[in-house]
Amino acid sequence: MEKFEYFSGIPEVGIVPRAPHAGPLMRHVYEQEHGRGGFAGKVSHTYHLYPPTNWLPEESRLLDGAGFAPHWESPLRPVGGVHHALGVLRTEAPRDVYRGMGRLIANATAAMNVTAPAAPMDYFFEHHSATQVFFVHEGSGTLETTFGPIAYRKGDFLIIPKGITHRFECDQGPQYYWVYESFAGDPEKAEAVTTGQFLTHSRSDYKFPRSLDTRNEAGRFEIVSKTDGTYARRVHPTHPFDAVGWRGSYLPYKFAVEDVRPLVADRSHVPPSGHTVFILPGCYICVFTVRSAEKEGLWVPFFHNNLDYCETLGYHVGRFFSRGGVFSEGMVSVHPVGLPHGPHPKAIAALLDDKRPQVFEEVGIMADFANPAKISDFALGLSRPDYMASWSGYTTEPRFLHDPGRLAKVRGEAERLADARDTLRPAGSEE
Ligand SMILES: [Fe+2]
Repeated sequence: MEKFEYFSGIPEVGIVPRAPHAGPLMRHVYEQEHGRGGFAGKVSHTYHLYPPTNWLPEESRLLDGAGFAPHWESPLRPVGGVHHALGVLRTEAPRDVYRGMGRLIANATAAMNVTAPAAPMDYFFEHHSATQVFFVHEGSGTLETTFGPIAYRKGDFLIIPKGITHRFECDQGPQYYWVYESFAGDPEKAEAVTTGQFLTHSRSDYKFPRSLDTRNEAGRFEIVSKTDGTYARRVHPTHPFDAVGWRGSYLPYKFAVEDVRPLVADRSHVPPSGHTVFILPGCYICVFTVRSAEKEGLWVPFFHNNLDYCETLGYHVGRFFSRGGVFSEGMVSVHPVGLPHGPHPKAIAALLDDKRPQVFEEVGIMADFANPAKISDFALGLSRPDYMASWSGYTTEPRFLHDPGRLAKVRGEAERLADARDTLRPAGSEE
Protein backbone atom coordinates (compact mmCIF):
# COMPACT_ATOMS: atom_id res chain seq x y z
CA MET A 1 0.00 0.00 0.00
CA GLU A 2 1.40 3.36 -0.98
CA LYS A 3 1.40 6.24 1.46
CA PHE A 4 -0.77 8.40 -0.76
CA GLU A 5 -3.60 7.67 -3.21
CA TYR A 6 -3.46 8.68 -6.86
CA PHE A 7 -5.69 8.98 -9.88
CA SER A 8 -4.75 7.14 -13.03
CA GLY A 9 -4.45 9.35 -16.10
CA ILE A 10 -7.22 7.36 -17.79
CA PRO A 11 -10.55 6.21 -16.25
CA GLU A 12 -10.50 2.57 -15.15
CA VAL A 13 -12.72 0.12 -13.31
CA GLY A 14 -12.05 -3.37 -11.95
CA ILE A 15 -9.14 -5.61 -12.83
CA VAL A 16 -6.77 -4.01 -15.35
CA PRO A 17 -3.05 -4.41 -16.14
CA ARG A 18 -0.62 -1.65 -15.25
CA ALA A 19 -0.84 -0.45 -18.86
CA PRO A 20 -2.54 -1.66 -22.05
CA HIS A 21 -0.88 -4.68 -23.71
CA ALA A 22 1.68 -4.97 -20.91
CA GLY A 23 2.48 -7.04 -17.85
CA PRO A 24 1.92 -10.58 -16.61
CA LEU A 25 -1.89 -10.21 -16.24
CA MET A 26 -2.07 -10.54 -20.03
CA ARG A 27 -1.69 -14.33 -19.54
CA HIS A 28 -4.84 -14.51 -17.37
CA VAL A 29 -7.39 -12.25 -19.09
CA TYR A 30 -8.24 -11.48 -22.72
CA GLU A 31 -7.72 -7.86 -23.70
CA GLN A 32 -9.99 -6.32 -26.34
CA GLU A 33 -9.38 -2.86 -27.81
CA HIS A 34 -12.31 -0.67 -28.87
CA GLY A 35 -10.65 2.03 -30.92
CA ARG A 36 -11.42 4.81 -33.35
CA GLY A 37 -9.19 6.48 -35.89
CA GLY A 38 -7.25 3.40 -37.01
CA PHE A 39 -5.42 2.77 -33.69
CA ALA A 40 -4.75 6.49 -33.32
CA GLY A 41 -8.04 7.86 -31.95
CA LYS A 42 -10.22 7.43 -28.86
CA VAL A 43 -9.80 4.01 -27.30
CA SER A 44 -10.86 1.74 -24.46
CA HIS A 45 -9.65 -1.68 -23.37
CA THR A 46 -11.83 -4.33 -21.81
CA TYR A 47 -10.44 -7.41 -20.01
CA HIS A 48 -12.45 -10.59 -20.53
CA LEU A 49 -12.75 -14.05 -19.00
CA TYR A 50 -13.12 -15.62 -22.45
CA PRO A 51 -11.89 -14.73 -25.95
CA PRO A 52 -14.32 -12.29 -27.62
CA THR A 53 -14.10 -14.36 -30.81
CA ASN A 54 -15.53 -17.57 -29.33
CA TRP A 55 -18.58 -17.59 -31.61
CA LEU A 56 -20.22 -20.81 -32.75
CA PRO A 57 -19.55 -20.77 -36.51
CA GLU A 58 -22.49 -23.00 -37.42
CA GLU A 59 -24.92 -20.48 -35.86
CA SER A 60 -23.36 -17.30 -37.20
CA ARG A 61 -24.81 -15.80 -40.37
CA LEU A 62 -26.13 -12.72 -42.13
CA LEU A 63 -29.76 -11.78 -41.47
CA ASP A 64 -32.43 -10.47 -43.76
CA GLY A 65 -32.32 -6.79 -42.80
CA ALA A 66 -35.81 -6.02 -44.06
CA GLY A 67 -37.11 -8.86 -41.92
CA PHE A 68 -35.15 -7.85 -38.83
CA ALA A 69 -35.88 -4.10 -38.76
CA PRO A 70 -38.37 -3.37 -41.55
CA HIS A 71 -38.44 0.43 -41.17
CA TRP A 72 -34.83 1.22 -40.27
CA GLU A 73 -33.72 1.29 -43.91
CA SER A 74 -36.91 2.99 -45.09
CA PRO A 75 -36.31 4.51 -48.57
CA LEU A 76 -35.29 8.16 -48.50
CA ARG A 77 -36.81 10.94 -50.63
CA PRO A 78 -35.61 14.47 -51.27
CA VAL A 79 -37.18 16.90 -48.80
CA GLY A 80 -37.74 20.57 -49.48
CA GLY A 81 -40.43 23.14 -50.03
CA VAL A 82 -42.99 21.63 -47.66
CA HIS A 83 -43.02 21.52 -43.85
CA HIS A 84 -44.01 18.32 -42.07
CA ALA A 85 -45.49 17.58 -38.67
CA LEU A 86 -44.92 13.94 -37.79
CA GLY A 87 -47.48 12.31 -35.53
CA VAL A 88 -46.63 9.97 -32.68
CA LEU A 89 -45.65 6.47 -33.80
CA ARG A 90 -48.33 3.86 -33.10
CA THR A 91 -46.78 0.44 -33.47
CA GLU A 92 -48.82 -2.18 -35.25
CA ALA A 93 -47.06 -5.10 -33.52
CA PRO A 94 -44.97 -5.03 -30.33
CA ARG A 95 -41.32 -4.86 -31.34
CA ASP A 96 -38.12 -4.39 -29.38
CA VAL A 97 -35.85 -1.32 -29.45
CA TYR A 98 -34.07 -2.24 -32.67
CA ARG A 99 -36.62 -4.36 -34.51
CA GLY A 100 -39.04 -1.45 -34.17
CA MET A 101 -36.61 1.29 -35.26
CA GLY A 102 -38.01 3.60 -37.93
CA ARG A 103 -35.88 6.05 -39.88
CA LEU A 104 -37.21 9.60 -40.18
CA ILE A 105 -34.51 11.89 -41.62
CA ALA A 106 -30.97 11.26 -42.84
CA ASN A 107 -28.06 12.80 -44.64
CA ALA A 108 -24.71 11.21 -45.50
CA THR A 109 -23.32 11.39 -41.96
CA ALA A 110 -26.27 11.46 -39.55
CA ALA A 111 -29.81 10.21 -39.17
CA MET A 112 -32.82 10.49 -36.88
CA ASN A 113 -35.00 7.52 -36.00
CA VAL A 114 -37.84 6.76 -33.66
CA THR A 115 -38.69 3.60 -31.73
CA ALA A 116 -41.45 2.70 -29.27
CA PRO A 117 -40.27 -0.63 -27.88
CA ALA A 118 -42.90 -2.90 -26.41
CA ALA A 119 -41.06 -6.25 -26.47
CA PRO A 120 -37.89 -7.44 -24.71
CA MET A 121 -34.55 -7.72 -26.51
CA ASP A 122 -33.65 -11.41 -26.51
CA TYR A 123 -30.25 -10.60 -28.07
CA PHE A 124 -27.36 -8.16 -27.64
CA PHE A 125 -26.71 -5.46 -30.22
CA GLU A 126 -23.67 -3.77 -31.76
CA HIS A 127 -24.00 -0.86 -34.19
CA HIS A 128 -20.80 -0.93 -36.23
CA SER A 129 -21.65 2.05 -38.46
CA ALA A 130 -22.73 4.71 -36.00
CA THR A 131 -22.39 6.08 -32.53
CA GLN A 132 -25.94 6.43 -31.30
CA VAL A 133 -27.49 9.19 -29.23
CA PHE A 134 -30.76 8.07 -27.68
CA PHE A 135 -33.17 10.55 -26.19
CA VAL A 136 -35.66 8.95 -23.82
CA HIS A 137 -38.87 10.84 -24.49
CA GLU A 138 -40.85 8.35 -22.43
CA GLY A 139 -39.98 5.30 -20.34
CA SER A 140 -37.09 4.00 -18.27
CA GLY A 141 -34.90 0.97 -17.87
CA THR A 142 -31.32 -0.22 -17.83
CA LEU A 143 -28.85 -0.02 -20.66
CA GLU A 144 -26.57 -3.03 -20.13
CA THR A 145 -23.11 -2.62 -21.66
CA THR A 146 -19.69 -4.27 -21.67
CA PHE A 147 -18.57 -1.42 -19.38
CA GLY A 148 -21.39 -1.92 -16.88
CA PRO A 149 -25.08 -1.03 -16.61
CA ILE A 150 -26.55 2.47 -16.95
CA ALA A 151 -30.00 3.12 -15.44
CA TYR A 152 -32.01 5.61 -17.48
CA ARG A 153 -35.31 7.42 -17.28
CA LYS A 154 -37.44 9.94 -19.09
CA GLY A 155 -35.39 12.92 -20.21
CA ASP A 156 -32.03 11.13 -20.42
CA PHE A 157 -29.68 11.11 -23.36
CA LEU A 158 -27.83 7.80 -23.76
CA ILE A 159 -24.67 7.81 -25.84
CA ILE A 160 -23.64 4.40 -27.16
CA PRO A 161 -20.31 4.50 -29.02
CA LYS A 162 -19.99 2.66 -32.31
CA GLY A 163 -19.32 -1.06 -31.89
CA ILE A 164 -20.07 -1.34 -28.15
CA THR A 165 -22.06 -4.45 -27.18
CA HIS A 166 -25.24 -3.55 -25.33
CA ARG A 167 -28.81 -4.50 -24.55
CA PHE A 168 -31.83 -2.50 -23.40
CA GLU A 169 -33.75 -3.86 -20.43
CA CYS A 170 -36.86 -1.68 -20.49
CA ASP A 171 -39.05 -1.20 -17.44
CA GLN A 172 -42.79 -1.83 -17.55
CA GLY A 173 -44.88 0.82 -19.25
CA PRO A 174 -44.73 2.87 -22.45
CA GLN A 175 -41.32 3.56 -23.98
CA TYR A 176 -40.61 6.15 -26.67
CA TYR A 177 -37.11 7.09 -27.86
CA TRP A 178 -35.68 9.36 -30.53
CA VAL A 179 -32.44 7.89 -31.82
CA TYR A 180 -29.76 9.89 -33.60
CA GLU A 181 -27.05 8.04 -35.52
CA SER A 182 -23.66 9.61 -36.16
CA PHE A 183 -21.92 7.72 -38.96
CA ALA A 184 -18.72 9.75 -39.30
CA GLY A 185 -17.60 10.53 -35.76
CA ASP A 186 -18.69 10.68 -32.14
CA PRO A 187 -20.86 13.48 -30.75
CA GLU A 188 -18.70 16.24 -29.33
CA LYS A 189 -19.80 18.49 -26.51
CA ALA A 190 -20.74 21.89 -27.92
CA GLU A 191 -18.53 24.64 -26.62
CA ALA A 192 -18.00 28.21 -27.76
CA VAL A 193 -14.74 30.04 -27.08
CA THR A 194 -16.77 32.94 -25.78
CA THR A 195 -18.87 31.00 -23.28
CA GLY A 196 -16.47 28.34 -22.05
CA GLN A 197 -16.88 24.75 -21.03
CA PHE A 198 -19.73 25.05 -18.51
CA LEU A 199 -22.44 26.46 -20.80
CA THR A 200 -24.82 24.99 -21.60
CA HIS A 201 -23.69 22.02 -19.57
CA SER A 202 -20.55 20.58 -18.00
CA ARG A 203 -18.71 17.34 -18.69
CA SER A 204 -19.33 16.61 -15.01
CA ASP A 205 -22.98 16.14 -16.02
CA TYR A 206 -22.01 13.03 -18.02
CA LYS A 207 -22.49 9.81 -16.07
CA PHE A 208 -20.26 6.89 -17.06
CA PRO A 209 -20.81 3.34 -15.77
CA ARG A 210 -18.57 2.15 -12.96
CA SER A 211 -20.55 -0.78 -11.52
CA LEU A 212 -19.27 -3.75 -13.47
CA ASP A 213 -21.71 -6.64 -13.41
CA THR A 214 -19.39 -9.42 -14.58
CA ARG A 215 -21.17 -12.53 -15.87
CA ASN A 216 -19.33 -15.85 -15.82
CA GLU A 217 -22.18 -17.69 -17.54
CA ALA A 218 -22.37 -20.45 -20.14
CA GLY A 219 -25.25 -20.73 -22.60
CA ARG A 220 -26.26 -19.43 -26.02
CA PHE A 221 -25.80 -15.70 -26.31
CA GLU A 222 -26.88 -14.04 -29.52
CA ILE A 223 -25.31 -10.80 -30.76
CA VAL A 224 -26.83 -8.92 -33.70
CA SER A 225 -24.51 -6.46 -35.40
CA LYS A 226 -25.45 -3.77 -37.89
CA THR A 227 -22.99 -2.54 -40.52
CA ASP A 228 -24.74 -0.01 -42.76
CA GLY A 229 -27.78 -1.96 -44.00
CA THR A 230 -26.27 -5.38 -43.28
CA TYR A 231 -27.37 -7.24 -40.17
CA ALA A 232 -25.43 -10.25 -38.91
CA ARG A 233 -26.06 -12.67 -36.09
CA ARG A 234 -23.45 -14.58 -34.13
CA VAL A 235 -23.90 -16.85 -31.14
CA HIS A 236 -21.39 -17.20 -28.30
CA PRO A 237 -21.20 -19.97 -25.66
CA THR A 238 -20.34 -17.46 -22.90
CA HIS A 239 -22.07 -14.28 -21.73
CA PRO A 240 -20.73 -11.21 -23.60
CA PHE A 241 -20.54 -9.18 -20.36
CA ASP A 242 -17.63 -11.21 -18.98
CA ALA A 243 -15.31 -8.21 -18.55
CA VAL A 244 -13.55 -8.04 -15.19
CA GLY A 245 -12.24 -4.56 -15.83
CA TRP A 246 -11.79 -1.77 -18.32
CA ARG A 247 -9.70 1.30 -18.93
CA GLY A 248 -10.19 4.07 -21.46
CA SER A 249 -12.23 7.03 -22.53
CA TYR A 250 -14.27 5.50 -25.35
CA LEU A 251 -17.32 4.82 -23.21
CA PRO A 252 -21.09 4.83 -23.10
CA TYR A 253 -22.66 7.47 -20.87
CA LYS A 254 -25.86 9.25 -19.98
CA PHE A 255 -26.72 12.90 -19.68
CA ALA A 256 -29.95 14.24 -18.19
CA VAL A 257 -31.78 16.96 -20.07
CA GLU A 258 -32.52 18.68 -16.76
CA ASP A 259 -28.78 19.36 -16.43
CA VAL A 260 -28.87 21.68 -19.44
CA ARG A 261 -28.54 25.21 -18.03
CA PRO A 262 -29.59 27.34 -20.96
CA LEU A 263 -28.06 30.51 -22.23
CA VAL A 264 -30.57 33.35 -21.90
CA ALA A 265 -30.39 36.96 -23.02
CA ASP A 266 -32.39 39.84 -21.57
CA ARG A 267 -31.85 42.23 -24.45
CA SER A 268 -31.57 40.08 -27.54
CA HIS A 269 -32.68 36.66 -28.79
CA VAL A 270 -30.37 33.68 -28.43
CA PRO A 271 -30.38 31.87 -31.79
CA PRO A 272 -31.23 28.15 -31.78
CA SER A 273 -27.55 27.27 -32.14
CA GLY A 274 -26.94 28.91 -28.76
CA HIS A 275 -28.76 25.92 -27.28
CA THR A 276 -26.53 23.29 -28.91
CA VAL A 277 -25.44 20.42 -26.65
CA PHE A 278 -23.83 18.00 -29.14
CA ILE A 279 -22.09 18.52 -32.44
CA LEU A 280 -21.96 15.57 -34.84
CA PRO A 281 -20.50 15.54 -38.35
CA GLY A 282 -23.30 16.99 -40.48
CA CYS A 283 -25.67 17.58 -37.56
CA TYR A 284 -26.06 19.55 -34.34
CA ILE A 285 -28.38 18.67 -31.48
CA CYS A 286 -29.90 21.44 -29.37
CA VAL A 287 -32.02 21.44 -26.23
CA PHE A 288 -34.68 24.09 -25.72
CA THR A 289 -35.50 23.83 -22.05
CA VAL A 290 -37.25 25.68 -19.26
CA ARG A 291 -35.86 29.22 -19.26
CA SER A 292 -36.72 32.85 -18.60
CA ALA A 293 -38.22 34.76 -21.48
CA GLU A 294 -36.16 37.57 -22.96
CA LYS A 295 -37.09 40.81 -21.21
CA GLU A 296 -36.45 43.39 -23.91
CA GLY A 297 -35.25 41.30 -26.82
CA LEU A 298 -37.44 39.44 -29.26
CA TRP A 299 -38.84 36.60 -27.17
CA VAL A 300 -40.32 34.56 -30.02
CA PRO A 301 -38.09 33.04 -32.68
CA PHE A 302 -37.37 35.23 -35.68
CA PHE A 303 -38.68 33.99 -39.02
CA HIS A 304 -35.80 32.26 -40.72
CA ASN A 305 -34.35 30.33 -43.60
CA ASN A 306 -31.71 28.02 -42.15
CA LEU A 307 -30.38 27.52 -45.65
CA ASP A 308 -27.86 24.75 -45.08
CA TYR A 309 -29.89 22.54 -42.73
CA CYS A 310 -33.08 20.55 -42.46
CA GLU A 311 -34.46 21.19 -38.97
CA THR A 312 -36.17 18.58 -36.84
CA LEU A 313 -37.68 19.30 -33.45
CA GLY A 314 -38.97 16.64 -31.12
CA TYR A 315 -41.51 18.02 -28.66
CA HIS A 316 -40.70 16.43 -25.30
CA VAL A 317 -42.71 18.15 -22.55
CA GLY A 318 -44.38 21.49 -22.08
CA ARG A 319 -46.42 24.03 -23.96
CA PHE A 320 -44.24 24.82 -27.04
CA PHE A 321 -45.23 28.47 -27.16
CA SER A 322 -43.77 29.25 -30.59
CA ARG A 323 -45.82 26.54 -32.25
CA GLY A 324 -49.10 28.08 -31.09
CA GLY A 325 -50.63 24.81 -29.88
CA VAL A 326 -50.06 22.88 -33.10
CA PHE A 327 -47.80 20.25 -31.52
CA SER A 328 -48.34 17.85 -28.67
CA GLU A 329 -45.76 15.82 -26.78
CA GLY A 330 -44.01 13.18 -28.86
CA MET A 331 -44.58 14.87 -32.21
CA VAL A 332 -41.72 15.96 -34.46
CA SER A 333 -41.61 18.92 -36.82
CA VAL A 334 -39.52 18.78 -39.99
CA HIS A 335 -38.67 22.17 -41.46
CA PRO A 336 -36.59 21.79 -44.61
CA VAL A 337 -35.25 24.51 -46.85
CA GLY A 338 -37.32 25.82 -49.70
CA LEU A 339 -39.59 28.02 -47.61
CA PRO A 340 -39.24 30.06 -44.42
CA HIS A 341 -40.54 29.14 -41.02
CA GLY A 342 -40.92 30.76 -37.63
CA PRO A 343 -43.52 31.33 -34.97
CA HIS A 344 -47.06 30.26 -35.64
CA PRO A 345 -49.78 32.95 -35.81
CA LYS A 346 -50.85 32.55 -32.16
CA ALA A 347 -47.26 33.01 -30.98
CA ILE A 348 -46.74 36.17 -33.02
CA ALA A 349 -50.11 37.46 -31.84
CA ALA A 350 -48.93 37.06 -28.24
CA LEU A 351 -45.81 39.09 -29.08
CA LEU A 352 -47.81 41.84 -30.75
CA ASP A 353 -50.20 41.94 -27.78
CA ASP A 354 -47.24 42.10 -25.38
CA LYS A 355 -48.25 38.91 -23.56
CA ARG A 356 -44.74 37.91 -22.65
CA PRO A 357 -44.55 34.89 -20.34
CA GLN A 358 -42.05 34.99 -17.49
CA VAL A 359 -40.81 31.50 -18.23
CA PHE A 360 -40.99 29.13 -21.16
CA GLU A 361 -42.19 25.83 -19.72
CA GLU A 362 -41.05 23.56 -22.52
CA VAL A 363 -38.44 21.00 -23.43
CA GLY A 364 -37.72 20.20 -27.07
CA ILE A 365 -34.88 18.37 -28.75
CA MET A 366 -33.79 19.92 -32.03
CA ALA A 367 -31.51 18.12 -34.48
CA ASP A 368 -30.55 19.97 -37.62
CA PHE A 369 -29.18 17.93 -40.53
CA ALA A 370 -26.81 19.44 -43.09
CA ASN A 371 -28.23 19.44 -46.60
CA PRO A 372 -28.74 17.47 -48.70
CA ALA A 373 -30.98 15.80 -46.10
CA LYS A 374 -33.73 13.38 -46.99
CA ILE A 375 -37.00 12.22 -45.47
CA SER A 376 -38.04 8.57 -45.35
CA ASP A 377 -41.19 6.95 -46.62
CA PHE A 378 -41.74 5.85 -43.02
CA ALA A 379 -41.72 9.51 -41.88
CA LEU A 380 -44.04 10.53 -44.71
CA GLY A 381 -46.44 7.90 -43.39
CA LEU A 382 -46.51 9.79 -40.05
CA SER A 383 -46.84 13.22 -41.66
CA ARG A 384 -50.02 15.14 -40.86
CA PRO A 385 -51.63 16.36 -44.08
CA ASP A 386 -52.90 19.58 -42.50
CA TYR A 387 -49.62 20.99 -41.20
CA MET A 388 -49.05 23.58 -43.94
CA ALA A 389 -52.55 24.87 -43.15
CA SER A 390 -51.58 25.49 -39.53
CA TRP A 391 -49.91 28.73 -40.68
CA SER A 392 -53.12 29.92 -42.33
CA GLY A 393 -53.82 32.47 -39.59
CA TYR A 394 -51.43 34.69 -41.53
CA THR A 395 -53.94 34.79 -44.38
CA THR A 396 -57.16 34.87 -42.36
CA GLU A 397 -56.60 36.97 -39.24
CA PRO A 398 -57.29 40.64 -39.97
CA ARG A 399 -54.11 41.92 -38.28
CA PHE A 400 -51.95 40.01 -40.77
CA LEU A 401 -53.93 40.86 -43.92
CA HIS A 402 -53.17 43.47 -46.52
CA ASP A 403 -53.92 46.97 -45.37
CA PRO A 404 -53.51 49.90 -47.74
CA GLY A 405 -52.43 52.11 -44.85
CA ARG A 406 -49.83 49.74 -43.43
CA LEU A 407 -46.75 51.30 -45.04
CA ALA A 408 -47.65 54.69 -43.63
CA LYS A 409 -48.32 53.15 -40.19
CA VAL A 410 -44.93 51.44 -40.12
CA ARG A 411 -43.21 54.64 -41.22
CA GLY A 412 -44.99 56.48 -38.43
CA GLU A 413 -44.02 53.89 -35.82
CA ALA A 414 -40.42 53.94 -37.02
CA GLU A 415 -40.32 57.70 -36.60
CA ARG A 416 -41.88 57.51 -33.14
CA LEU A 417 -39.41 54.80 -32.06
CA ALA A 418 -36.33 56.28 -33.72
CA ASP A 419 -34.78 57.24 -30.40
CA ALA A 420 -36.10 54.29 -28.43
CA ARG A 421 -33.46 52.71 -26.21
CA ASP A 422 -33.37 49.63 -24.03
CA THR A 423 -34.54 50.12 -20.46
CA LEU A 424 -31.80 47.81 -19.22
CA ARG A 425 -29.00 50.10 -20.37
CA PRO A 426 -26.04 51.39 -18.39
CA ALA A 427 -26.76 54.16 -15.90
CA GLY A 428 -25.56 57.61 -16.94
CA SER A 429 -25.79 56.81 -20.65
CA GLU A 430 -28.27 59.63 -21.39
CA GLU A 431 -25.72 62.12 -22.78
FE1 LIG B 1 -36.06 26.78 -37.19
